[in-house]
Amino acid sequence: MSPIRGYVFDAYGTLFDVHSVVEAGREVTSDPATLSATWRQKQLEYTWLRALMGAYVDFWVVTESALRYTIRRLGLSATEDQVRRLMEAYLALACFPEVAAALERLAGRPRAVLSNGAPKMLEAAVTGSGLTGHLEHVISVDRVKTYKPSPRVYALGPETLGIPAGELLFVSSNGWDVAGAKAFGYRVAWCNRTGAPEEELGARADVVVGTLDQLPG
Ligand code: LAC
Repeated sequence: MSPIRGYVFDAYGTLFDVHSVVEAGREVTSDPATLSATWRQKQLEYTWLRALMGAYVDFWVVTESALRYTIRRLGLSATEDQVRRLMEAYLALACFPEVAAALERLAGRPRAVLSNGAPKMLEAAVTGSGLTGHLEHVISVDRVKTYKPSPRVYALGPETLGIPAGELLFVSSNGWDVAGAKAFGYRVAWCNRTGAPEEELGARADVVVGTLDQLPG
């Protein structure tokens, strides 16, 4: 096996906790965990659908559409101010506690984020979590105007880092993203934060960890 020459990280769910929005959700529901889970699932569905439809709008727009749908789906009501506050919570997501130290340990080889996030969302999350100095590249799908798991997105990693996918370790907590990156040709680590079962998509991670501090150095 050739050595790993760089790291490419998924953002949402891997570095940043999307369920940080639960606090903001308390304003509109007594069950903010269901709001958060439904919102996230709908957000992902909309990325897949828009990618297939060839109807890209950026992840900020997708995230807001998913929120508005979720509010209706759960029979809730929210004022425009409450919608705005929920969306703003998305700009201030917490990173998981081990992330900064885990990235620091991997220093010396390029570390990149490759995410569905719109550039302004990634910028806010990376800066807000103090991760700027731990990442050499922050790459948004906005460059190719489609979403994971399109191979055009995964190609941005090797293109930007100048390293073949087979010598990069792609790291994601999202099982479907693991499958997409593996199908593209990356070495892949699945950070299975929630103890989820493996996806049935015919592509397995090379390594499974529970948190990012367990990644191979
Ligand atoms: C991302 C989504 C998949 O950050 O979590 O790309």
